[in-house]
Amino acid sequence: MVSRERLALTTPNLTETAMAGKKSLSHLRRYFPLTKKCIYLNNASEGPLPLSAKRVMEKFLYDSSYTENEHDPESFRIVEEVREKCARLIKAKSSEIALTTNTSYGLNLVCRGLGLKSGDEILLPEVEFPANVYPWLNLRSEGIRVKFIKTKNGFFDISRFHDAITPETRVFSVSFVQFLNGYKNDLKALGEICKQKDIFFVVDGIQGVGNQVLDVKECGIDLLSCGGHKWLLSPPGTGFVYLSSEAKRSLGTPFSGWLSVDWCRGKKKPDFTNLLRYDLKPFETARRFEFGSYPFLDIRGFDACLDMLLSAGIKNIEKHNRRLLKLLIDHINSSSRYELKSSLEEKHLSSIINFTGPGIDRVHRRLREEGIITSLREGGIRVSPHFYNNVTEIRKLIRVLET
Ligand SMILES: Cc1ncc(COP(=O)(O)O)c(C=O)c1O
Repeated sequence: MVSRERLALTTPNLTETAMAGKKSLSHLRRYFPLTKKCIYLNNASEGPLPLSAKRVMEKFLYDSSYTENEHDPESFRIVEEVREKCARLIKAKSSEIALTTNTSYGLNLVCRGLGLKSGDEILLPEVEFPANVYPWLNLRSEGIRVKFIKTKNGFFDISRFHDAITPETRVFSVSFVQFLNGYKNDLKALGEICKQKDIFFVVDGIQGVGNQVLDVKECGIDLLSCGGHKWLLSPPGTGFVYLSSEAKRSLGTPFSGWLSVDWCRGKKKPDFTNLLRYDLKPFETARRFEFGSYPFLDIRGFDACLDMLLSAGIKNIEKHNRRLLKLLIDHINSSSRYELKSSLEEKHLSSIINFTGPGIDRVHRRLREEGIITSLREGGIRVSPHFYNNVTEIRKLIRVLET
């Protein structure tokens, strides 16, 4: 039997983290045992679960087997806290957050919720991850047009967006950070255009939220969807959608479920003693888009990861990751072997870069043999460090690249 001692929680000391975060985030590295086994530079694919999350999840599993926890009020309280923490990540209000299971959930929600009609037009950059393409293509059978905007070498250009808009354009959907080359889109400028032209502005946030500072209000984003399993380091099956209070008016309720309605009715705890009443109203908040029973185990892990990210500070994380990538960028720029596939413009830099060179598949394999984990994406090596990575690891990557 697993002893309670072994399951004792050791979450990071948040005060210590907040203080140290101003200068260094190195003390958080110990929460990532993976760093002892390999140099993991692949957060754009999947983030490793920190020990603090693993421990609260183990405790939940233990309690689920050994204790009675019917309609566990603690779990509902954590769901509420997690909404609030997601909101803090992007400078939103918790009433504008619904918890989801991945990025695709929120994108499908907006596709179906906007009540688009035959002849309406959706604009997408031609280099979106498929999660932000197929939900829109699925509307074509209803006469809705999907138009792809050309990019320059994979970099999305605002003037081309401007030119693509027609009187039929209803929605523009774009990634905060492009998944292949890490190009950070200028969401503020894009949001302004959408506002002027009355276009619903949708953002796939998964490659930027958690590693780049974002103010959804300042950018005029109507809806942002984000999965938790990459930069938020959370269990797969976690995520959230942000729907601005103003945009809520434009979005219907395409789906509804028994947990979309208010069982609390002004009280603190939900009252499930009269389930056959059928007269409850949907929540006024974005919570109306949460339909049924929650993955409480995953949400506990999500909560612990959000604590770590928020206490480290997104601005600190952004700076730290940028500093690591700068070492690599400088090296590649001075190398005759490799060339960058990412933009070097300061405002388009993120926590992802991609570079290529002769025999890149072989180079990728060699890195793996040396215990350095990156992704091979469309003919380039994608490197995506997070706050637990360090300069020594990037130096080792550079050494291997040159052998
Ligand atoms: C930009 C982008 N959007 C979405 C996803 C994944 O979507 P989901 O969270 O629905 O699995 C990925 C990567 O897996 C991605 O890179």
